[in-house]
Amino acid sequence: MTADPAIDLRGVSKRYLTRGGEVEAVSSLSLAIRAGEFVAVIGPSGCGKSTLLKMVAGIETPTAGTITVEGGTPDQARRRRLFGVVFQDPVLLPWRTLEGNVSLPLEIVGSRRPERARSARELIELVGLAGFEASLPAQLSGGMKQRAAIARALILNPSILLLDEPFGALDEYTRNQLNLELLRIWSQSRVTALLITHSIQEAVLLADRVVVLTPRPARVAMEVDVTLPRPRQLAQLRTRECFELVGRVSAALYDRLEREAGRERGEPAAALAPGHLDSR
Ligand SMILES: Nc1ncnc2c1ncn2[C@@H]1O[C@H](COP(=O)(O)OP(=O)(O)O)[C@@H](O)[C@H]1O
Ligand SMILES: [Mg+2]
Repeated sequence: MTADPAIDLRGVSKRYLTRGGEVEAVSSLSLAIRAGEFVAVIGPSGCGKSTLLKMVAGIETPTAGTITVEGGTPDQARRRRLFGVVFQDPVLLPWRTLEGNVSLPLEIVGSRRPERARSARELIELVGLAGFEASLPAQLSGGMKQRAAIARALILNPSILLLDEPFGALDEYTRNQLNLELLRIWSQSRVTALLITHSIQEAVLLADRVVVLTPRPARVAMEVDVTLPRPRQLAQLRTRECFELVGRVSAALYDRLEREAGRERGEPAAALAPGHLDSR
């Protein structure tokens, strides 16, 4: 018997009511994530990725379908503080030091000052920022701020890490560096990780499984198991196995675009790559 998934989405839909009418962001999406698994979700901009993550986090409620997180509702999971969340914008308080920012969640739950300082320093060390405890956010680079956001997300010892394009604003070098850091942290802490990204390479380097979403409304277009051995290294990005995986994710992601472009060129549909997606 296999254990229940840590995160289980069944037939989940989300419609937003806006002044311009209804916007369907997510449509009958089902996805199960095992405890300790690292899942990367990739999809076109505006397809509903953040909406998906917010529903898992208990910030938005689905219009249809159910989400179960470690045996309860997302809202219960949020109250049990099961989540650590990292967004693209690290949102650090500018007047607080790095240590003050990282320890903020502990302050909110009322933990005592010596314990806060000890935990914050441990995590600052874990994310490679030792020595910068007293620095203000303005004195930190973009990559360092994002490391701080990761440390802050981990300080309440979450069992689930939700990451919404955390490295999207970083240059490629820093991004790769932080990818390796995240891998190390994940393999040490064994949290369940759900990463939204728009980088195919990042998805393949980090994840056990890459879930490709359709253009809005988001549904699962394809799932690719990433068979690259662990521990992962950047050098694996240059292997044939990795090229093959990146190619499969890319084909699923660009399937519709490529077919549309082919139609514009007047090519018969049969001449194009086999459709992985539903032919809406
Ligand atoms: N709070 C909201 N109210 C109304 N529409 C929203 C809201 N949040 C997102 N949307 C719409 O839902 C769609 C998906 O948005 P989002 O989940 O942010 O996409 P992604 O993260 O994939 O770029 C978009 O069309 C967006 O405009
Ligand atoms: Mg988004």
